[in-house]
Amino acid sequence: MYPRIVAALLAALLLPCLQGPANAHSLIPKPQHIETREGTFALDAQVSLHAPADARSQEIARFLHEAIMQQTGIALAETGKGRRIELRLDRAVAGEEAYRLEVAPKRITVAASTHKGLFWGVQTLRQLLPLQRANTMTIPAIRIEDAPEFGYRGHMFDVGRHFFPVDFLKQQIDLLSYYKFNTFRWHLTEDQGWRIEIKKYPKLTEVGAWRTEADGSRYGGFYTQEQIRDVVEYARLRNIMVIPEIEMPGHSSAAIAAYPFLSCHKQQIDVPPFWGVHKDIYCAGDETTFAFLQDVLDEVIALFPAPYFHIGGDEVPKDQWQACASCQQRIRDEGLKDEHELQSWFVKRIQRYLAGKGKTLMGWDEILEGGADRNAIIEVWRGDAEGAKALANGNRVVSAGPYYFDSSLSKLKLEDVYRTEIVGGDPDSGADPAIFARHRAQVLGAEAPLWTEHITMLNAQAMSFPRLQALAESLWNHDGRDYADFWQRLQAHYPLMDAWKVAYGPEDKDVVAYSLAWSPERQRWQMRAERGFDDLVVHYTLDGSEPDDASASFTDLLELEQSGVVKVVPFRRGRQYAATRAYALTSHLALGSTVSYTVAPSPTYSGAGALAQVDGLTGSDNFRDGVWLGWDDGDLAATVDLQQDTRFQSLSLRFLQDSRSWILLPKRVRMSASSDGVHWRSLQATPIEADPLDPAPAIRTIEFTSRKPLRARYLRVEADRYGLLPVGHAAAGKQAWLFADEIIVK
Ligand code: ACM
Ligand code: ZN
Repeated sequence: MYPRIVAALLAALLLPCLQGPANAHSLIPKPQHIETREGTFALDAQVSLHAPADARSQEIARFLHEAIMQQTGIALAETGKGRRIELRLDRAVAGEEAYRLEVAPKRITVAASTHKGLFWGVQTLRQLLPLQRANTMTIPAIRIEDAPEFGYRGHMFDVGRHFFPVDFLKQQIDLLSYYKFNTFRWHLTEDQGWRIEIKKYPKLTEVGAWRTEADGSRYGGFYTQEQIRDVVEYARLRNIMVIPEIEMPGHSSAAIAAYPFLSCHKQQIDVPPFWGVHKDIYCAGDETTFAFLQDVLDEVIALFPAPYFHIGGDEVPKDQWQACASCQQRIRDEGLKDEHELQSWFVKRIQRYLAGKGKTLMGWDEILEGGADRNAIIEVWRGDAEGAKALANGNRVVSAGPYYFDSSLSKLKLEDVYRTEIVGGDPDSGADPAIFARHRAQVLGAEAPLWTEHITMLNAQAMSFPRLQALAESLWNHDGRDYADFWQRLQAHYPLMDAWKVAYGPEDKDVVAYSLAWSPERQRWQMRAERGFDDLVVHYTLDGSEPDDASASFTDLLELEQSGVVKVVPFRRGRQYAATRAYALTSHLALGSTVSYTVAPSPTYSGAGALAQVDGLTGSDNFRDGVWLGWDDGDLAATVDLQQDTRFQSLSLRFLQDSRSWILLPKRVRMSASSDGVHWRSLQATPIEADPLDPAPAIRTIEFTSRKPLRARYLRVEADRYGLLPVGHAAAGKQAWLFADEIIVK
């Protein structure tokens, strides 16, 4: 805590200059060696730019010319005898990505033995430019010698769960390149969407790129091969290699929806609109699967020059392989022990095919199960134990687990990203720490995946930045890390990101966290917004319309008196930072009364405290929305005390089913009423019919209504939970959860 306070104080003192031009002390990632020197270089249109004549050097020079022009408005001359910027290929600067940058009064020199190094030197020079438009400006003299500690510095982007247009990805690539990432991993296929055009199999995108959402709307999109080439070329110009990921054998529902022959069961399925691990996987027994995959790989390989090819391989439920005659035949024919070895066989077969095309296979750490070839690169996501296994097996690894940027900003904080060891940082993993030291040479680096189940264009940048800056420095200058120093330099990058219209997120808080509760004292609802930025405002509507930045707004607290729907959306500096959230408020007779339970709800799912079932709030189809109450160790038996004999005509309650999250509707619901709490009369007993295996989340309302008004002080609702999850469920035999929300009395 102490260094952060010191850093904050320092930053406050330095604020006037930090908000102005970036300078040598705000470089991210921090170079290995910096020497500041006397004097300055005057940058103006008289300065000429020189580079070697080869094509790549000329591209790099054009990139620099363009970048200086965009940031400062200065167009460098092509020839000239005076002050100059010179890009040089110099064998003496050793290292694949190393460079030397010297700023002297008459000359700026960027030297490297490779084009990669030359480009990073140019990016460092860009970071020395003042953030201002002027005819002339100065750059302080300096000498930098620099090279990264880790050779693989990546970011994985999931375009399957949500689709992101090319321009958005290009901005992401611009930023990655500015911070010296060298790899963009394009996660192109998922259960919920196939996003890359394959000419031989047009249905992959005609069918597989589109899904019907729970509300009936169609969602989707895909990249044409021309767009893919455009992105790959855009990245190449910025020193970034793009590695495609085509998932197999799991996470393939969208492909199976397009071509059912790819599955074991050969049945038509829909592209699923919900998240999680899906059972529809490619059949490993049928040769047609491999013919298809090889055709797909051929087309994808032709688009991506990278020497690596990622085949996913994670989260492969083996149920369908167990039930499939041809998969079982394959196991016998190949002398395999079980379905894990079948997966290993599958991956190795694809690996051989890729090797024949000059590609090294990458896969998630599940590809170790059943044995992995040691030439495969393992992307470790399930923890250090898996990392240790991969290293001991002789594989090279890329670490991803500590850098899941879909984790909330308040959970995976900027400082956590910065401080985490690339591998071996988890003392509880059970892995022998010596393994990581002994095999350090096999650790290529790390990448931050952005899984997009809950991420769209609105929040992708907030989840990525500034966490990517922290990872950039950890990978480039791992041994030289100093968080307080990094934090101070980072402050100078916010004005830059503002200028680029990047909707970056807070460092250690969520963009906004809402809580809504009924206040018995105020006799109204209070919505509190815990904001990640002081200058963030929440706009809202009460009429059902979509709020925008012209709608009414609040910062910390909004009080509401009327039933209805409140819709909220956060804005900062004119930019929307998250999707609209809607909360339904219902005024009714039991609002704010007392509820007692035979079995208390689980502490994890207990809504907003004691009033949770009588606070006027009803849940969404997301069981984690903070409104639903959940029971996993008993039935629901709730008694509402209205405090006095009350006339009522209806009593209703909603239940949630989300089978994939082990939440099932109850078997039956009973409602009863009493005036004295001793003598009860039954109002209604309702058996519930539902398919416990239907994967789509659904809400069921159980309502009692009377034509004539009744009187009671006490009302009781009892719901018998489903019991054990049935055969056919992924967790068959485990206890199902029961989820309920508001007890509405009218
Ligand atoms: C993964 O997160 N399933 C790799
Ligand atoms: Zn099969």
